[in-house]
Amino acid sequence: MQTQPRTLEATFIFPTDFLWGVSTAAYQIEGAAYEDGRGPSIWDTFAQIPGKVYQNQTGAVAADHYHRYLDDIALMKSLNLGAYRFSIAWPRILPQGVGAINQAGLDFYDRLVDSLLAQEIVPAATLYHWDLPQALSDKGGWVNRATAEAFADYAEVVARRLGDRVALWQTHNEPWCVAYLGYGVGEHAPGIRNQSVVAAVAHHLLLSHGLALPRLRANTAASAQLGITLNFTPAYAGDDQPATRVAVEKAERVNRWFADPIFKGSYPEGLFDDLGIAPPPVQAGDMEVISAPIDFLGVNNYTRSLFQATSDGSQSVQVDPVPGALYTEMHWEVYPRGLGDLLIWLQNEYAPTALFVVENGAAFPDVWDGQSDQIADPLRVSYLRDHIQSVGRAIEQGAHVKGYFAWSLMDNYEWAFGYSKRFGIVYIDYPSQRRIIKESARWYADFIRNQRQLSRR
Ligand code: GCO
Repeated sequence: MQTQPRTLEATFIFPTDFLWGVSTAAYQIEGAAYEDGRGPSIWDTFAQIPGKVYQNQTGAVAADHYHRYLDDIALMKSLNLGAYRFSIAWPRILPQGVGAINQAGLDFYDRLVDSLLAQEIVPAATLYHWDLPQALSDKGGWVNRATAEAFADYAEVVARRLGDRVALWQTHNEPWCVAYLGYGVGEHAPGIRNQSVVAAVAHHLLLSHGLALPRLRANTAASAQLGITLNFTPAYAGDDQPATRVAVEKAERVNRWFADPIFKGSYPEGLFDDLGIAPPPVQAGDMEVISAPIDFLGVNNYTRSLFQATSDGSQSVQVDPVPGALYTEMHWEVYPRGLGDLLIWLQNEYAPTALFVVENGAAFPDVWDGQSDQIADPLRVSYLRDHIQSVGRAIEQGAHVKGYFAWSLMDNYEWAFGYSKRFGIVYIDYPSQRRIIKESARWYADFIRNQRQLSRR
């Protein structure tokens, strides 16, 4: 591993109002899958199909956050966190996806938001983190354009209840994963393997974002900021061969798939040819709806990709593994510089009003001895420290980054990997649901406190 300066405090002082937070998602932590009127989601269904998820694990209990949210908020407070990004489970609010509203579902998020505010933690909500109501999936899910209309109605229902208090609203989280992993290769719910619908799914997700924006504007406080969260893996050239330049450009077009429509009102030229898939069914007016102004872009980043030409120069392939590089348990290369480069690129390319890093973190195989109240996770400490430093560099170079949220507050249900990957800064002992603070959480808490002191000077 490279040697990094022990403290980053000396390197960069973030602005006083910079938000330091953590992220989670409903299905990954809440549990209580059958309580208080929640309807089934596509993840309940998918997780029950044998062989789809590691050891056939489901999110039925997860980290039991639905019942332990007050303790979890107290924990966040003790870690000096200033913001919390969570997602709202659509099937808790509208068990059938449309129609009858389940008040008990809204009540849960109402209590969550009030409890956060009572601890001076800024609430940041995501409306869709992959748990589509099963009833809508039965009608075609995101292949069906009507799901975009249903999403906008759902967004309004939530905004009417929480719009006076939630500061940051994200319509979607990583629509690329929904379209490609959910409908293209079937690794995620609903488990469909049909490349020919991927572009349509992506388009309907974007459309739903655009349709939801005016409904959110009309029902949220004037100070509320509206945006969407996209995932990006910056691509690098390992040589100056023509084939490598082509490979990097292709990878970059995938990074633009959702951002170009939102900020420029068009799909990247050549993208669907590159992917060999049918272009999306764009109707008149769609691109105007999709490109309505947003207040911020949420950025998720974990790694990068590196391309190098084969010896005969005929093609360029991803270098894997990168010699000498450190990899996380997801087999993602640790490349802190990539996050800063990405933020600068996004700023230059799209001129967003604000950027928030809303997911960044690492899975490593943490071990708890079964009794002590600490866990050493030095690799995660370095990961967070070096990536945060990279964010500081991006700000120095002009990127309008307003906050950083680590993925994740606590270990949770890592989708098809079940509970086998631990991303938390807090460890969960699933049998007892005990929370154990990892060294990375202590480091982050100290770092945030130091930053607050420094920035006030
Ligand atoms: C994501 C997912 C998270 C994952 C995390 C690690 O937005 O990709 O939202 O749910 O758990 O990214 O893979």
